[in-house]
Amino acid sequence: MHTFGYRANAVLTFAVMVLALMCAATSFTDKFNTPSPSAHVQVLNINWFQKSIQGNDEVSFTLNITANLQSLFTWNTKQAFVFLAAEYETPKNVLNQVSLWDGIIGSKEHAKFSIHTTNKYRFSDQGSNLRGKDFNLTLYWHIMPKIGKMLEDKIVLTGFSLPKQYS
Ligand SMILES: *[C@@H]1O[C@H](CO)[C@@H](O)[C@H](O)[C@H]1NC(C)=O
Ligand SMILES: *[C@@H]1O[C@H](CO)[C@@H](O)[C@H](O)[C@H]1NC(C)=O
Repeated sequence: MHTFGYRANAVLTFAVMVLALMCAATSFTDKFNTPSPSAHVQVLNINWFQKSIQGNDEVSFTLNITANLQSLFTWNTKQAFVFLAAEYETPKNVLNQVSLWDGIIGSKEHAKFSIHTTNKYRFSDQGSNLRGKDFNLTLYWHIMPKIGKMLEDKIVLTGFSLPKQYS
């Protein structure tokens, strides 16, 4: 019994050591992967732009979201969560952020995409600040690995602006 217990313990210790080394190697090799993601977003149409009864500006877009995030996928990637946010400045807040679209990418094959969509979530402002407003569209991603820390980054696309009049 004594011998069996000792052996089991030795096997377990060895297994834990191997696992620890594998984890270390995984995080290590990930650091050598320098990804080169790309993103391009077009506002194809402004479907409507109005002030709601509550007095908040609201806008509906048709967007063309094109991205290639394939280089972010390694054998250690479980999935990626991506979202597109409109970011703009108002007298009250330096950064207003409104999520317009999001998605989960489960594999490298799906990490290259072109999506033609209206904004999935409301683009509305807590006030009437949107007329003639310049804004950025930022594509954020959170990479969930199988082992190790979650990775976050973004691509900022600048130079968008809203019309001066409601429609
Ligand atoms: C969306 O953008 C991509 C890349 O710029 C382009 O190839 C594609 O034709 C566009 N699609 C539409 C519907 O505009
Ligand atoms: C838009 O992006 C540019 C460049 O990254 C940045 O300087 C600017 O502050 C951004 N604007 C907002 C409102 O976040």
